[in-house]
Amino acid sequence: MSTFPEGFLWGGATAANQCEGGYDADGKGLGVPDIMTGGTVSEPRHVTDGVKPGVHYPSHEAVDMYTHYLDDIALFGEMGFKCYRMSINWSRVFPKGDEEKPNQAGIEFYRRVFEKCRECGIEPMVTLSHYELPYHLAKEYGGWANPKLIDFYLNYARTAMTEYKGLVKYWLTFNEINCLLMGGFGNIMGAGILPPGDDVAMTFGDTPWDVPQKRYQALHYQFLASAKCVVMAHEIDPENKVGCMIAGNVTYPHTCNPDDVILAQRKQREQNFYCGDVQVRGAYPAWAPAVWKREGVSIEVSDEDAATLAAGTVDFYSFSYYMSSTASADPKLIEGGNIFGGAGNEYLKKSDWGWAIDPKGLKYYLEEVYDRYQVPLMIVENGLGAVDVREEDGSVHDSYRVDYLREHIEQMGEAIADGVDLMGYTMWGCIDLVSASTGEMKKRYGFIYVDKDNDGAGTLARSKKDSFYWYKKVIATNGEDLS
Ligand code: BG6
Repeated sequence: MSTFPEGFLWGGATAANQCEGGYDADGKGLGVPDIMTGGTVSEPRHVTDGVKPGVHYPSHEAVDMYTHYLDDIALFGEMGFKCYRMSINWSRVFPKGDEEKPNQAGIEFYRRVFEKCRECGIEPMVTLSHYELPYHLAKEYGGWANPKLIDFYLNYARTAMTEYKGLVKYWLTFNEINCLLMGGFGNIMGAGILPPGDDVAMTFGDTPWDVPQKRYQALHYQFLASAKCVVMAHEIDPENKVGCMIAGNVTYPHTCNPDDVILAQRKQREQNFYCGDVQVRGAYPAWAPAVWKREGVSIEVSDEDAATLAAGTVDFYSFSYYMSSTASADPKLIEGGNIFGGAGNEYLKKSDWGWAIDPKGLKYYLEEVYDRYQVPLMIVENGLGAVDVREEDGSVHDSYRVDYLREHIEQMGEAIADGVDLMGYTMWGCIDLVSASTGEMKKRYGFIYVDKDNDGAGTLARSKKDSFYWYKKVIATNGEDLS
């Protein structure tokens, strides 16, 4: 007997800016990703001051789901997806972000997408903000450091929830909201706070132009926007279910040295629970002021803010999970590679992009988070970015991806057997798409291969990888047959 509950939401996940393309089609405005160049595992992406002639911007065409969506969703249906997690590209429906009325062509595009999902028996789950702030809001308003964005966001969310009432009932307010705790990436992709100047590298660690006060303030405004959005979603349709979305980070102590243990505890708290507590419990944790003090920031939580946060707690907790890291009090041991940094882990293998592969960490995370919050959980991203080889007959033999997914799904089953209420699993990048951290096509996650390379060349033809057929069987047996 499968441990997975009946109605488990098996599926896949994407983000509009990484797969749609059509960056200026039918009235769409520029989004922040549209001014980001491609990079590699060792060469960072750059942010340019607007779109520059002759520069390759991977989001502009991406894998062109904007024109292939009917066939792509049909392929998801063929795999038996119960759920498709995707995002609405904010600048497709509000090209500048501060308009009152939406771009009707954008509204109709997503309506057709959701109708196709329904036709294929797929429940759409929509991320309202997945690293794709309208560029105008970043450039002219300073991104989320400006409180005016709260009302622009709510106008956009209200429009989407009203237009798609009855078609969409699962919503996520902000993708990986805790990325705002990180310098470069968090500023640019999470908060739309742009670097000064032109052609600036997007960093993951130290960021010379980072202003923590702005970043923490931006995060506070996103919390308020999210909480107001939850209340509004329930008013628009009591059937609506709204989740937070956290980048799940498991941090183990590097050794049993108490200094390592205390540091690991601090990282787990700050990276996972700082945002989780606000969005699920409705208040900052007791230790938040100590974090602000250490970071040299001051966040004022007025009585009105506190009431807003308390009223707008989410219905479920969703998260991404790719890797774990370790914490060491010895700075000499810190390694690069893992997005969350850390001191390496000799017990784990790494992906080609340096991310530590740790299926058991997923069980650990599920149980920690469920113990703390006791609300339904959903894994909305997990997968392996790898180099795939397409054979002449179009086949792709990605047994390494099947192994990765199998081992993670097994651990999900273990957590469910331990009593965790897990609603679903949407594997990341179910169709090959542009990598968020590096801007590459070469870092592929999909069950479906797309013929396109890092320089933008390729026919965009789709082909099914071996993992496509494997996942179809997993879904058909509700997680029973992982062979
Ligand atoms: C998550 C993001 O951080 O990880 C996705 O929500 C992203 O947008 C995914 O694509 C995988 O990361 P990457 O850098 O390999 O694309």
